[in-house]
Amino acid sequence: MAQVILKNLRKSYENTKVIHGLDLEIKDKEFVVFVGPSGCGKSTTLRMIAGLETISGGELFIGDKLVNDMPPRQRNISMVFQDYALYPHMTVAKNLGFSLKIAGIPQAEIEQRVADAAGILGLEPYLKRKPGQLSGGQRQRVAMGRAIVRHPDVYLFDEPLSNLDAKLRTQMRIEIKKLHQRVGNTIVYVTHDQVEAMTLADRIVIMRDGIIEQVGSPREVFEKPNNTFVATFIGSPPMNLLDARVTSKNGDPRLMLADGREVHAPAPIRNKLEAGKAVKLGIRPEDISPEGNALPTGGQTERLELPVMLSEDLGSEATLFTELAGTPIQSIMYNPRTVHAGETLNFNMALDKCHVFDGDTLKNLAA
Ligand SMILES: Nc1ncnc2c1ncn2[C@@H]1O[C@H](COP(=O)(O)OP(=O)(O)O)[C@@H](O)[C@H]1O
Ligand SMILES: [Mg+2]
Repeated sequence: MAQVILKNLRKSYENTKVIHGLDLEIKDKEFVVFVGPSGCGKSTTLRMIAGLETISGGELFIGDKLVNDMPPRQRNISMVFQDYALYPHMTVAKNLGFSLKIAGIPQAEIEQRVADAAGILGLEPYLKRKPGQLSGGQRQRVAMGRAIVRHPDVYLFDEPLSNLDAKLRTQMRIEIKKLHQRVGNTIVYVTHDQVEAMTLADRIVIMRDGIIEQVGSPREVFEKPNNTFVATFIGSPPMNLLDARVTSKNGDPRLMLADGREVHAPAPIRNKLEAGKAVKLGIRPEDISPEGNALPTGGQTERLELPVMLSEDLGSEATLFTELAGTPIQSIMYNPRTVHAGETLNFNMALDKCHVFDGDTLKNLAA
């Protein structure tokens, strides 16, 4: 069993608190991704799990052992870093087996484990090469191989794909997912890239400024963001947010936008809207789309005539940049046609898909 449990885990550097008390239970064989902007404390958290940083407060369990003061070597974890830190003068085979040699594992077993890892990662043709003779993707694979040969209980990854170009990153993402399906170990993975988080994770942990904002499956954090931070961090292009005020027409709550325009209140949260309350109306780009695009049928929609400032055509879809009540809005157009700057289009906003956040606390009113 290799669950990882964080109980009120804290970290300070001298007088600066950087991790403010994290509580999380990572299950055995779970793939958990920590995601958040640069500087929010992802690496610090991972390094505390690895034993590379001291823990300032709280408790950390790996398996059922309290490991706060256990040295890294005894934790049975393997860490893969962003810069692969391969030994340049050693062959791939030696790089893969080096930590086992240090640990005093017999030569025959080292060879077996290296061969197995090379097989899993498709590294057999490169075993005699040195890192300098490999592409970025191959080096990344060697770094993963070095983690695999140790048969750890828990894999820790710190932005392992950040140094690769976009295409390779997508390929390696699939390989990491396959690796997890094959070896089935617990993985704690850190990235600032929400697409990586969404595609890899069983559960996503969204961090900001040393705290956890939300934990959930990719679908949960996408569909039910706790607050505007999570709402705009997960999803691309990001969710649009509009300032609004709750009004009432014959007892029917409505949302008045900054330009005085009124829209119907999304049905699921009607009863939580007090007249006069300041809110933020959140709408994802795919849920405000030009007429002719298929929106989910049956739901209530709001029709809006909006000018398009710019269209970014990506082939199978286009991002339209428009404006509503003085706020820039992005909209996704599927099966796009050419849209000229300045053209006015009819948009449909899927009201049932809208989110409403408290204007002060920025918390989701549906939560
Ligand atoms: N050795 C250190 N001394 C002081 N502050 C540090 C040290 N390492 C990291 N920090 C600070 O801790 C915060 C979290 O850093 P880090 O965990 O590296 O963030 P992330 O990996 O999410 O980008 C940052 O504000 C960073 O400046
Ligand atoms: Mg980092």
